[in-house]
Amino acid sequence: MKKSLLDTIIRYVGAGTVIEALRKACYFLSNIFEALFGVSDSLEPPRCMSVEGRRNYSKIGNEFLGYFVELGGLKKTDRILDVGSGIGRMSLPIARYLSKEGSYEGIDIINYGVRWCQKKITPRYPNVWFQRVDVYNKTYHRKGKQKASEYKFPYGDDSFDFVLLTSVFTHMLPVDLENYLSEISRVLKKDGKCLITYFLLNDESLDYIEKKQSRLAFNYWYEECRIEDKEVPEVAIAYEESRIRKLYEQNTLKIVDSIHYGAWCGREKFLSFQDIIVAQKL
Ligand SMILES: C[S@@+](CC[C@H](N)C(=O)[O-])C[C@H]1O[C@@H](n2cnc3c(N)ncnc32)[C@H](O)[C@@H]1O
Repeated sequence: MKKSLLDTIIRYVGAGTVIEALRKACYFLSNIFEALFGVSDSLEPPRCMSVEGRRNYSKIGNEFLGYFVELGGLKKTDRILDVGSGIGRMSLPIARYLSKEGSYEGIDIINYGVRWCQKKITPRYPNVWFQRVDVYNKTYHRKGKQKASEYKFPYGDDSFDFVLLTSVFTHMLPVDLENYLSEISRVLKKDGKCLITYFLLNDESLDYIEKKQSRLAFNYWYEECRIEDKEVPEVAIAYEESRIRKLYEQNTLKIVDSIHYGAWCGREKFLSFQDIIVAQKL
């Protein structure tokens, strides 16, 4: 059978590398377009930045601002850390919400996502900053030099009132998640809050998975979590709820109210797509 050039390239370098190269090329071209025809006023990132949260950019950002405020008690004057800020899907609604006294720091491992936010968001909202961190993740940053399991956030103890991670622990392995959770606890002020999303395995979600009603099959066990893709575990990761609860306890994070379960597994009553845990630092 005759193979196309693209098939051959994918076979040699892998689909991930090809997608990454196409995305970089698209970003590069959009920069050239801007240089030639003037800077676009739009704060919506180009479509090629899809993996890091381009889908329903404003809709999901605004939906989550509601959760930060209503479930997490986010205040306009808070100092906020967004771990895995991506292409600013959460940053923008937060930037618009904050008062001059409030501030926001976003960290991420994807260079062009951070650069986009620095170029587009910070000039309009000077109390909103972004920083690239050089941490490895098989899906997002294969050349990352530091291990997520050992990485220390670049902030002092008790620095933030609010920490958020949306769709980030769903792409991180157990040792990495454990270190990040202890870092979240370290940088949170006493009584500060964190809002984090997950795919949580409990009797209900496992039942839906068994019955093949779940949007994500999580067919494989890997290092005590369940994954979608054997080759690249970080594509999507689900954790046992009991294990996450234990980790919160160990890190002096008290879960506020009950967990807000999501639609991902096919359940009929849900709040959002992923499961949401709000916790308070004791
Ligand atoms: C699905 S995207 C979500 C982005 C953003 N939180 C949102 O909801 O739009 C996952 C993000 O997590 C980031 N990420 C993955 N591993 C990370 C790590 N170890 N440290 C910081 N960010 C990480 C990725 O680069 C990517 O931007």
